[in-house]
Amino acid sequence: MKFFIDTADVDEIRELTDTGMIDGVTTNPSLIAKSGRKFADVIEEICSFIDGPVSAEVAAIDAPTMIKEGHKLAQIAKNVTIKVPLTVDGLKACKVLSDEGTMVNVTLCFSPAQAILAAKAGATFVSPFVGRLDDIGLDGMDLIADICEIYENYANFETQVLVASVRSPKHVVDAARMGAHVVTIPPSALRQLYNHPLTDKGLDSFLKDWAGTGQSIL
Ligand code: G3P
Repeated sequence: MKFFIDTADVDEIRELTDTGMIDGVTTNPSLIAKSGRKFADVIEEICSFIDGPVSAEVAAIDAPTMIKEGHKLAQIAKNVTIKVPLTVDGLKACKVLSDEGTMVNVTLCFSPAQAILAAKAGATFVSPFVGRLDDIGLDGMDLIADICEIYENYANFETQVLVASVRSPKHVVDAARMGAHVVTIPPSALRQLYNHPLTDKGLDSFLKDWAGTGQSIL
């Protein structure tokens, strides 16, 4: 299972890269706006130290302009993955860019039918948004189960399920149970994955007992 980090905060990415857990990065226009920085500069800086896929989203809504934007963004680095919305035009652009050998992440997927279209358009990744489905009273993870089941049925569907809009460790664990290929996790949720109160409690008592022995390993 691959872990991408869902942020455009380069300092956070650098810090979390040191954990050895990060296989790629996803950004979106809202995260770029939050960074307060120039889009191309952020993507270039991330790609200078991340080897895995780095998603950069187009801003156009018509296929020809999306393709032009995709070409420009793809020039930044070889690991830039062009993110397009799951619309008719987004999938047209996906097909063209994928056929050219560029990695494409089809985003804003909210139904199994949309995920089938993304796979047929040759997407490298499809991004179903689980948290936003939970927000409207549905169970976002049901969508992941459906997509994983459908993709398993077709050997020619090579699209990877990239679970997005992740809000908690439970989303990550459920995605792993379902066999999703990738989860993109905000930094706060990634840090939460490490935590368990019994780990802290156990470590405290081990440290106290070790101190009582008066020994040193080094
Ligand atoms: O990058 C897309 C996605 O992960 C957005 O998450 O929390 O804004 O729904 P969220």
